[in-house]
Amino acid sequence: MGGIGRARIAHRGRLAISVRKKYWNLGIGTRMMEELIKFAKDIAKLEVIELEVRANNHSAIRLYEKFGFERIGVFKKFFKIDGKYFDALLMNLYL
Ligand SMILES: CC(C)(COP(=O)(O)OP(=O)(O)OC[C@H]1O[C@@H](n2cnc3c(N)ncnc32)[C@H](O)[C@@H]1OP(=O)(O)O)[C@@H](O)C(=O)NCCC(=O)NCCS
Repeated sequence: MGGIGRARIAHRGRLAISVRKKYWNLGIGTRMMEELIKFAKDIAKLEVIELEVRANNHSAIRLYEKFGFERIGVFKKFFKIDGKYFDALLMNLYL
């Protein structure tokens, strides 16, 4: 989680999370999101959290939507991994 800096965009922050594969589907991602959103709202005083997620990452998208993140659009060729392109879904949470 990080703020963006300049005054006119300082109300926005970015977020990304990752859980080791052997611990997936135990609710850890959900707990992390709860804490990060609480921090963003109460401590960092952010108004918008933004993130991008690989468009085929259904478990992550499900997790983010569970917390109210909205689908903003698709950024084609956002990631380039070993010469292969992947689209990203851009998602925002308005706090
Ligand atoms: C995305 C990630 C953080 C989720 O962490 P986690 O600890 O497994 O999360 P939780 O156990 O709290 O929740 C997982 C949710 O995905 C759902 N899910 C699991 N596999 C799924 C699938 N194939 N399709 C749709 N949903 C799926 C689970 O049902 C659960 O949803 P629920 O709480 O509504 O039942 C974890 O998979 C991860 O680190 N992935 C690799 C890194 C990554 O993709 N990060 C996000 C990119 S920005």
